[in-house]
Amino acid sequence: MSTTIDSLLHENRHFPPSAEFSANAIAKPEIYDEARADRLAFWATQARELHWHTPFTEVLDWSNAPFARWFGDGEINVAYNCLDRHVIAGHGDRVALHFEGEPGDTRSITYAELTSEVKKAANMLASLGVKQGDRVAIYMPVIPETVVAMLACARLGAIHSVIFGGFSAESLRSRIVDAGATVVITADGGYRKGSVFALKPAVDEAVAGIETVEHVVVVKRGGNEVVWNERDIWWHDAIAPMNDDHVAQGFESENPLFILYTSGTTGAPKGILHTSGGYLTQAAFTHRNVFDLHPETDVYWCTADVGWITGHSYVAYGPLANGATQVLYEGTPDFPEPGRWWDIIEKYKVSIFYTAPTAIRSFMKMGREIPQARDLSSLRVLGSVGEPINPEAWMWYREVIGGNTCPIVDTWWQTETGAIMIAAMPGITNTKPGSAQVPIPGITIDVVTEEGTHVGPEAGGLLVVSEPWPSMLRGIWGDPDRYKDTYWDKFGDKYFAGDGAHLDADGDVWLLGRVDDVMNVSGHRLSTMEIESALVSNHHVAEAAVIGASDETTGQAVVAFVILKRRAKEELGHADAIKELRAHVAKEIGAIARPRDIYLVEELPKTRSGKIMRRLLRDIAEGREIGDTSTLTDINVVTQIDNQVP
Ligand code: PRX
Repeated sequence: MSTTIDSLLHENRHFPPSAEFSANAIAKPEIYDEARADRLAFWATQARELHWHTPFTEVLDWSNAPFARWFGDGEINVAYNCLDRHVIAGHGDRVALHFEGEPGDTRSITYAELTSEVKKAANMLASLGVKQGDRVAIYMPVIPETVVAMLACARLGAIHSVIFGGFSAESLRSRIVDAGATVVITADGGYRKGSVFALKPAVDEAVAGIETVEHVVVVKRGGNEVVWNERDIWWHDAIAPMNDDHVAQGFESENPLFILYTSGTTGAPKGILHTSGGYLTQAAFTHRNVFDLHPETDVYWCTADVGWITGHSYVAYGPLANGATQVLYEGTPDFPEPGRWWDIIEKYKVSIFYTAPTAIRSFMKMGREIPQARDLSSLRVLGSVGEPINPEAWMWYREVIGGNTCPIVDTWWQTETGAIMIAAMPGITNTKPGSAQVPIPGITIDVVTEEGTHVGPEAGGLLVVSEPWPSMLRGIWGDPDRYKDTYWDKFGDKYFAGDGAHLDADGDVWLLGRVDDVMNVSGHRLSTMEIESALVSNHHVAEAAVIGASDETTGQAVVAFVILKRRAKEELGHADAIKELRAHVAKEIGAIARPRDIYLVEELPKTRSGKIMRRLLRDIAEGREIGDTSTLTDINVVTQIDNQVP
């Protein structure tokens, strides 16, 4: 852990915001004092920025820790806060979404139009029997209907579970089953890299034989041929007869809003559960303050897919709760040519841009001439999320994209935290390349030793959140014990985030990555276990070990060490085996999990108790000297593998 940090610590540059930026900033330095003086009163003030059908009197109830209740006696409708409220305030004509399809089709949708669409969709879902507490699975491309579907669920008090469109039928199926979804909303297909990728066939495969699924609602987007089943309905047919009268009812603050599945260290994905009032409070607060959103003038763009938590909090809920105008882009960054993103920024005069380090690094590789050929002068704030941003990429982002003037906010948070937890405030903080810096006002974090004591300045340890926060997960769907074990067992009263971190002499936080067997590929968490089980589910495979090895572009890349069954070795050529296994993982989990490298090995390094020593495999894959092998059963295994890896 300390080696990573040493190199980062040579980073002495820092960049204060301009006086002009600070003067106009939403967040002023007093905000920290206010939050420190009375943390709960501070969050209550933020929550009161929202519309409550019934105002709350209670702020936090932590008596049943680690199960929090925030604003527990209040009633709220999340969709009303994202829609009707703005129309009533006279902002109905403001554009909510500038949708840009990958083929170049565009739609600008105002708050009044979006409100009306969501009301119709809510009526449609209600007509299909969806009511408070029901689960609706959403498996879609990034198109306006995805956001409409989420908000329609929220409006009815139903729980959505958005599954990233890149996941396979198998992954989709396990998530539908786990949540007990009654309705699935999907599209025929969407656009990616210039062609249509089909979604409907994966849904057909996923729901086959699942009795709980009553309806599959299909948005027409790709125009690709689809097989039609009895429970399928076209979205446009179902919505056409609906009217746009729908009165939003208040639901209790702790009414579940969504489940979002994320990877853990063991087997099945975890259904992270988020609820309404606290979640929306922190999503909206952070979106407004961390990005310095001036909703009347800013055009905001977050490039995340709606299928990830970033898309939930910073495409759907945060921006819409704040009445922001935002860009929603369907496709890949480099289609039809490498400058597509920068064209979009120029076209819509994007002023706040939020993306991931992996994207920044891939643009760095393509060369600065590409963005420099566009007018990016509308930009004023840049954000980063998903993994540590290395100082070199940070500086490139600042110079080439931000024209040396835009503050960069590196935002640390997780699916579980629901909203940003650590980030600079663009009008206050002197930003440092590579550091996520400070907890946002109202959040208390610490870096501690294995025993739970504070590490002090200039030391590394485990990142914890020491007090409950409004947008925290409320549990793991259907598995309260796993929630307690995973996040609270280690330190009892502190939430353990699973990340290592270092505090510098100023007390700023530098993230060091995951300390568990979870890797981070292009800003997405993947569990080594899940990929291992996918590999082992192939009939040729006897055993597999998967690690995340550092990768210049994606942060970490999936590397697999596989032992084939004897028969497979005889039947399959080396290249064929690797090809088949890569395809198999893509089919089982999704293309994002497809291993960059697969090594076919004879044995795996194990401890005497039979645990695979992934640490040694990581050393090998990253070309490092092999670390401590004292607990290893047989050193020859490692030498053999090492000889195989270039
Ligand atoms: O390891 C941290 C890394 O991403 C993990 C959370 O992943 P996920 O739940 O998929 O959410 C990603 C988007 C919020 C964290 O435990 N991570 C996220 N943001 C940062 C980060 N690591 C360093 N710096 C960040 N800004």
